[in-house]
Amino acid sequence: MSNALRIGLVGCGGMGNEHLGIVRSAMTGAQLVGVCDYRADRAERMGRQHGVAYWTDFTKFLHEACLDVLHICSPTGYHAAQGIEAANAGVHVLCEKPLDLDLSRIDNLIAACDKNNVRLGCIFQRRAVRGAQEVQRAIAAGEMGRILSCSVSIKWWRSQEYYDKDDWRGTRSLDGGALANQGIHSLDQMVWMAGPVEAVEFAHLDTVSHDLEVEDFAIVVVRFTSGARGVIEATTCCKPDLSTRLEIFGTQGSAALDDAFVVRFGLDGEDRLNTLPDRGKLMGGGSDPWAISLAGHTEQIRDFYSAVIEHREPMVDGRAARVSVDLLDKIYRHASK
Ligand SMILES: NC(=O)c1ccc[n+]([C@@H]2O[C@H](COP(=O)([O-])OP(=O)(O)OC[C@H]3O[C@@H](n4cnc5c(N)ncnc54)[C@H](O)[C@@H]3O)[C@@H](O)[C@H]2O)c1
Repeated sequence: MSNALRIGLVGCGGMGNEHLGIVRSAMTGAQLVGVCDYRADRAERMGRQHGVAYWTDFTKFLHEACLDVLHICSPTGYHAAQGIEAANAGVHVLCEKPLDLDLSRIDNLIAACDKNNVRLGCIFQRRAVRGAQEVQRAIAAGEMGRILSCSVSIKWWRSQEYYDKDDWRGTRSLDGGALANQGIHSLDQMVWMAGPVEAVEFAHLDTVSHDLEVEDFAIVVVRFTSGARGVIEATTCCKPDLSTRLEIFGTQGSAALDDAFVVRFGLDGEDRLNTLPDRGKLMGGGSDPWAISLAGHTEQIRDFYSAVIEHREPMVDGRAARVSVDLLDKIYRHASK
């Protein structure tokens, strides 16, 4: 009998396809056993493509496929509900970013995973890149001194056709706007580097270039729990897109990253950039959501399977992934005052 982890996936769209490609080609010790999508044509196509069974009913899928791990690649607003059902069926949950759009649903998901003793992981692929990890480690160890400022800018382009192609995109309940979908990578990177945000001091959210119910342009000023300050600029109106940047500085150093690629890093008056064994990676996605590097995904999926086998927390667990949605929640609350 095989000891391979039994893997299933819900959400047979673009990102589901990328996950399955990684599972099939790069994961030893894992056996893909089934897929699920509420659209029969998509479930069938992906099931046939990968030679596995497919379901359209999520509850039946969970009870009939005998999974160890569920990958959630459905629209964001369904993540927590599907994760809770999986956890209650004893299945470990690896969820695409963000964990959900609603903090109380995320709290219920974390509680369900704790109660059922299953792992919860979330894909934030920029955290899986070595150069960015080196910078984060130095900051966490206090080598940058007291952090004074951490700002991010994600100036991307998405066409109206992109939003119109799938009925969930650009909706408040299932997707969110430039902050929740595209910007969340930078929001997560920001709180990973500088810690949680205590308060939002200014938030200008607007919809300027698309016919949408959510923001496509946002400028936000935050105060971190540490006392540091930061600015977030997130948009899907910038054509051609500009690089995705994080800049952080403290009393003893500074760093700048384009995506997950370190472009400046200095501590204590010394240039540390050239001492990094690996400066990291540009992840892409600025204009084309599918032109992205999958190196971080591969690393995180591998880490998650190991975490399940070794009974440890994964690289990005539920509590870590909650922090960026908490920030999102604070931004939306401030903007609606
Ligand atoms: N990490 C990244 O860089 C990255 C990139 C793209 C997307 N994502 C995330 O992946 C998720 C999916 O995005 P996508 O671009 O693949 O979307 P998509 O529209 O291409 O795919 C979503 C699929 O889910 C199916 N679906 C919808 N509701 C469902 C339900 N209730 N039950 C089962 N299936 C359902 C749809 O039919 C569709 O096939 C989103 O949360 C998104 O934020 C992450």
